[in-house]
Amino acid sequence: MTLSSHIDPDTIEDRIFQNSVSKATLISKYFKKFSGKSDQTKKNLQEHHERIVARFHGVANKYKLPDHSMAAKQAYDIVHDDLTLDGSTSLNLASFVNVHTEEESEKLIVENLTKNLADCDEYPMLIELQDRCISIIANMWHAPLLVEDSGIETPHHSQNFSRWKSRAIGTPCTGSSEAIMLGGLAMKKNWQSKRKAKGLPYDKPNILMASCAQVALEKFARYFDVENRLIGVSDKDFLIDINKIKENLDENTIGIFVIVGSTYTGGFENVEAISKLLDDYEKETGNWIPIHVDGASGGFIAPIIYPNLKWDFRIPRVMSISASGHKFGLVTAGLGWVLFRDEAWLPKELRFQLQYLGGLEESFSLNFSRPGYQVVHQYYNFLRLGRAGYYDIFDNCLINARLLSLFLEETGYFTCVSNLHLPAGMSTRDRDPKWDISLSQSFISEHDKFNAALPVVSFQLTKEFIEDYPEIPQSLISTLLRNKQWIIPNYDLPRINLPEVDENGEEHDDPSLQNEVNGENNQILRVVVKYNLTAQLLDKLMHDIANVVEMLIKSVELVRKNVKDLKSSGEEVTNDLVYNMLLSISNDGDERLIKFKNEDKKTDAKVVC
Ligand SMILES: Cc1ncc(COP(=O)(O)O)c(C=O)c1O
Repeated sequence: MTLSSHIDPDTIEDRIFQNSVSKATLISKYFKKFSGKSDQTKKNLQEHHERIVARFHGVANKYKLPDHSMAAKQAYDIVHDDLTLDGSTSLNLASFVNVHTEEESEKLIVENLTKNLADCDEYPMLIELQDRCISIIANMWHAPLLVEDSGIETPHHSQNFSRWKSRAIGTPCTGSSEAIMLGGLAMKKNWQSKRKAKGLPYDKPNILMASCAQVALEKFARYFDVENRLIGVSDKDFLIDINKIKENLDENTIGIFVIVGSTYTGGFENVEAISKLLDDYEKETGNWIPIHVDGASGGFIAPIIYPNLKWDFRIPRVMSISASGHKFGLVTAGLGWVLFRDEAWLPKELRFQLQYLGGLEESFSLNFSRPGYQVVHQYYNFLRLGRAGYYDIFDNCLINARLLSLFLEETGYFTCVSNLHLPAGMSTRDRDPKWDISLSQSFISEHDKFNAALPVVSFQLTKEFIEDYPEIPQSLISTLLRNKQWIIPNYDLPRINLPEVDENGEEHDDPSLQNEVNGENNQILRVVVKYNLTAQLLDKLMHDIANVVEMLIKSVELVRKNVKDLKSSGEEVTNDLVYNMLLSISNDGDERLIKFKNEDKKTDAKVVC
C-alpha cells in the first residue's frame, strides 16, 4: 500500500472538467450524424460514440460509486485500460508467485470461477479434488500413514500416543501466510494444553525463527501473542545461525519455524541438523520442541529435485509443513497448503464442525468463503505434469538461475549471495576463491552437486566495484532495469546481529552490529527464476543488466571528468553538478547528448518520433 502524494490530481482534473464541455454535450455532438439512419444503426452509433466519450471523459467518479450504470463494454474498456499500466507479469522477476497458465487450466479456472470452496455440500467433487491434493502432497512430504511409522516417541506424548492412528490431515489456505498462522496456532494450543494439564503457567509462549523469516512468520507471533525470539542469520549463508538456537529455548518455547527456501537467498535451512540439536536439548532439559517447516517454495522444489534431502515428515519432530500452491505448485495467486503429520496434532478447540446435508465436515482455517478454482488448478497441474513434468520445469529454472549467477560473477561487477551455483557445502561468504565452475567438472544440471536451493539469484555489487564507483547506489540498477520493463527488487539482507533489547523491551540498535560492519554490502538485487523466464528472456536480461551497469559507469566517469574541468577552471560547482549527473544517466552516459551550463553543445542527432 502506498501513500498518496500531496498533489490531488482529481481536484485539479475536476476543476478543468467543470470549465470544459460536458459529457452530454460531447455525446449530443454526434447526434446530428444519426439523422436518416435506421433505429438499430442509430443505437449502435450512439453506443459507439458513448464509448468513445466515456473513454476520454469517464474518469470523474473513480473513488465514488457512480450514480448511474454504464454498458458492460464501457466498464470493461475503462478497467482494461487502467490495468495496462501494470508491469508485465512475465517480466516480474520479483515475486515467487507463479504467472504461467495453460489454455486448458484457464478453461477449467473459468468453468469453476463461481464455486465457493466453503460450500462442501453443493460442490462435493471440488472437495474430492481438494482431498486428492492433500493426499498427493502428504505423500510427497512422506507423511506417516500409521502410528507405528510416525516416529513420535517422546514421553510426554504417551497419553495421546495410542490415539495417533490416523493419517496426516491438511487444508488448503489462501497462501503460505494463512498456512503458517495455522501451523503456529496448532503449536501454541498443543503447548498450552500440555502446560495446563501439568498445572503450569501458559501465558508466556515464545517461538523461534530466523531474521530471514518472511513477514508472515513474524505476523503469526504478533497477531497471536507469542514472543518472537528472532535468531540472527549466519554471516556465511544468511540462514538461521544454528549456534544461537539453544540459548533461546526454554520451557515456554512452543516451537520453531524452519525455512526451506529463504525469501532472501533461496537457501534451505538444515531441518535435520536443527532437529538433532533439539533432540540434544530435549535430553538435557526434558523440553520437547516441535518444528513447523515453512516450505512456501521449497515444499514443491525439494521433493521433486532433491528427493534424498530430509526436510519433511521423515523427521519425526516435524509436526506441520506449509507451502504455497501458487508458487512452485504452479497455481495462480491464492492457494496455500498446510499439513499436520497426524490428526492428533490438531487440537479439538481449533476445529470447527460444519453441518451439511450429507453429514458433518470439519474445518480449520482463518477464512470461510474462498475461491475453489485454485484447487482445481492444483489438481490439474498434478495430473498434467506428474513428477516428470514438475522436474523438467524446476530443472530448467535451476539451470537458468545457475547460468545467471555465473554470468553475473563473470562480469566482475557482481557477487552472488545466493549459493545454488556453488558446490554442495561451499557457502557464499567463505568460498574457495580458486573455485571455478569450469574446473569443477560438474554439469550445471547436476543439482545434487550444488547447494540445494530455490532457483533464486541474489546478487550485489562487489567490494571492488563499490571502491571504484562509490557514487553508484545499487538500488539505481533496479530502477534502471525497471525502465527496460524488468521488475527486480533491491532489498536489505536479513540481520546477522540483532538489536539489543533492554528490560523495557526497547530495541537498541548498535551500529557496530549492522551487517555492513565488515565493509560488506548489505543489499541484494533478487531474481526469482520461474517458468516465465525463458532462455530467450534470460539472454536479454543478462545483456540488460550488463548494459545498465556499463551505462552507470560511463555516466559517473563523465560527471567526474566535468567536475574536474569545472574545478580546475575555478567555476563554482552547484546544482548543475547534480543536474548533469542525472541527465547523464537518462542519456545513457552519452556525452554528446548532454548540454552543460554555459555550453552550447549541439549534436547532429535528429529527433525521431
Ligand atoms: C519463505 C516464505 N514464507 C512465507 C511466504 C508467504 O507466502 P504467501 O505469499 O503464499 O502467503 C513467502 C512469500 O514469498 C516466503 O517466501
